[in-house]
Amino acid sequence: MGDKGTFWMPQSASTVSGEVDALFYLTFWISTVIFLMVVGAMAYFVIRYRRRSESEVPVDEHDSRLFEYSTIGLSIVLVLIVFTWGFKVYLKLNVAPPGAYEVQVTASQWKWDYTYPDGTVYAGDLHVPANRPVRLVMNSMDVLHSFFVPQFRIKQDVVPNRYTSVWFEASVTDTFDVFCTEYCGNQHSGMLGKVIAHPQEEFDLWLSEAGGGDLSPEEYGERLFGQNNCNTCHSIDGTRIVGPSMQGLFGSQRQFASGESAVADENYLLNSIVAPAAQVVEGYPPAMPPSYGSLPQDQLNALVAYIKSVQ
Ligand code: CUA
Repeated sequence: MGDKGTFWMPQSASTVSGEVDALFYLTFWISTVIFLMVVGAMAYFVIRYRRRSESEVPVDEHDSRLFEYSTIGLSIVLVLIVFTWGFKVYLKLNVAPPGAYEVQVTASQWKWDYTYPDGTVYAGDLHVPANRPVRLVMNSMDVLHSFFVPQFRIKQDVVPNRYTSVWFEASVTDTFDVFCTEYCGNQHSGMLGKVIAHPQEEFDLWLSEAGGGDLSPEEYGERLFGQNNCNTCHSIDGTRIVGPSMQGLFGSQRQFASGESAVADENYLLNSIVAPAAQVVEGYPPAMPPSYGSLPQDQLNALVAYIKSVQ
């Protein structure tokens, strides 16, 4: 819905995106005009002052002080305008309005987790109220990631061992893209998500049901399996992707790279999620990151219930 953006810019959907775009277009057009002037003058001089005969000796041209000073002066003024305007927009982008709705963002290989003020942990997509400032307080459990929503014109690195923050106010109710824009390992390009901006009441309703609500453990687990991007590495139909398929996993005999073996019971499923390096199935790389161990217990239970049900 809404505008679809321009050739240069995606849809503009936050309270600051218009200002960022205006600054971009100012810089873009100044650069374009200067580029054309320089290239135009160069082309003109090449033709105008070309050597016309073998014996021609160049005439001595004197430089114009007035021209030099005015180009220096104009450049300084243009740079100062861009700097001052840019600094104002930078401050606005970096200082959240007081009373902003706060969501904790936890990045890990290779997913985004969102923790709401009521304690709800939701993976994958960020749901927010529209027309209200939202401040994200972010950190990473492992390596550098970067949180980027092009339609809001916000981007902020997410790093381990410290908090970074960014804020936005969605000016329309719509669905927007989240990209990770800091290379963070194999599945970096798959570390995607959405921001879904709801009207306030719809958001309140969503939040009240986000913890699983009336879903059965299997249904909730199925949803979490998708939200946590488990399906990028584990199929449910027997296809081999990166890790073993979930099909018929529960109750089967597992042969490990260590030479040991075990029957896949509930404890095995849980351990494989929280400590994936402990029992690596023979023939598969030890590629699963340990970050899923931080999921809340009820979500782990739901995932185990779902995996049990994939036959
Ligand atoms: Cu996370 Cu790239």
